Amino acid sequence: SVGKVVDNAVNKSIDPAIEQAAALIRGGEVVAFPTETVYGLGGDATNDAAIKRIFAAKGRPADNPLIVHVASVEEAADYTRDIPLLARELMDAFWPGPLTIILPHNGTLSPLVTAGLDTVGLRMPAHPVARQLIAATGRPLAAPSSNRSGRPSPTEAAHVLDDLNGRIPMILDGGSAGVGLESTVVEVIGQTVMVLRPGGVTLEELRQVSSDVVVDPALSIAKEAPRSPGMKYTHYAPEVPLFLVEGELDALKQAIEEAKLDGARTGALVVDEWLGLSGADQEVTLGKRVDLHAIGRELYRALREFKARDVDILFTCTFPDDHLGGAIMNRLTKASEGIQKSDA
Ligand code: TXA
Ligand code: MG
Repeated sequence: SVGKVVDNAVNKSIDPAIEQAAALIRGGEVVAFPTETVYGLGGDATNDAAIKRIFAAKGRPADNPLIVHVASVEEAADYTRDIPLLARELMDAFWPGPLTIILPHNGTLSPLVTAGLDTVGLRMPAHPVARQLIAATGRPLAAPSSNRSGRPSPTEAAHVLDDLNGRIPMILDGGSAGVGLESTVVEVIGQTVMVLRPGGVTLEELRQVSSDVVVDPALSIAKEAPRSPGMKYTHYAPEVPLFLVEGELDALKQAIEEAKLDGARTGALVVDEWLGLSGADQEVTLGKRVDLHAIGRELYRALREFKARDVDILFTCTFPDDHLGGAIMNRLTKASEGIQKSDA
């Protein structure tokens, strides 16, 4: 198959670190590795012991299923009952890349991976190290983001070390993750593409493949149970309480000024245009206001930079929620204590 040819081409350049990681994974161990979205913590998705190690290292609740990383569309068929045409079209359009597709599984994978659900989330990553690792391992790789549960996802090897030092045997360092936000998770329901988690593939991009793309209502209506178990947990939380201020620089300045009057040491996630203007004691910039790709790439690193020893409260502003802004606003909302509506 075409998938095999690609694997062999990739295999020729496999370096010793990847061989070592693959040997660990074949032996039931877990290894952190880079993907184009965020770093993952990978283990053999057919091995119960390996999956238990993933949940234990992260401190992840056992009812939150893991996504499985595969080498090709053909391999996805090995773990699923059938791949509907619409799912196949999504794979052709977005794989390899930041799209996870939920499909009914066929029982081949460890039941711990899917947390007892009938479905499994599958993704073919684009990052060369991730692809080489899957090829060298010869196994489907279950891999959640490689952070401690509840922390921002790691976008650099150093973040993984901060969270999991001493808890896992190896981290493959592939530099900074490109997208910086997790994959988009979708479920194909009849002719509908239901978005369970906004991410690296935008709604606008999905709509180029299907005219029937909807977002799980539970993501905007708090009382409904989300179809993606992971979306019900507190997530991406920085060490310091984060407040999301609706509006632009003036609203941000006002919120920061009020916190300072209360004696708080303030931090702000700003954009390049506002550097030095927010009034916060400490600022970290995410990039140019219009450059949503830069903001996506920098967001988790910035959330990790603010330590409780340095600031008491953290502020940022809302972003337009089209294109990658949809995923950015989803993460900011989940990382924060809520949106502050300004009266400015
Ligand atoms: O970009 C990514 O997706 C990264 C990299 C490493 O690939 N992985 C990642 O995995 O973010 P994780 O476990 O942190 O997030 C997976 C999300 C969770 O919200 C989980 O609840 C959901 O996908 N999920 C997994 N299997 C599911 C299923 N069968 N049905 C519904 N949601 C599922
Ligand atoms: Mg995660």
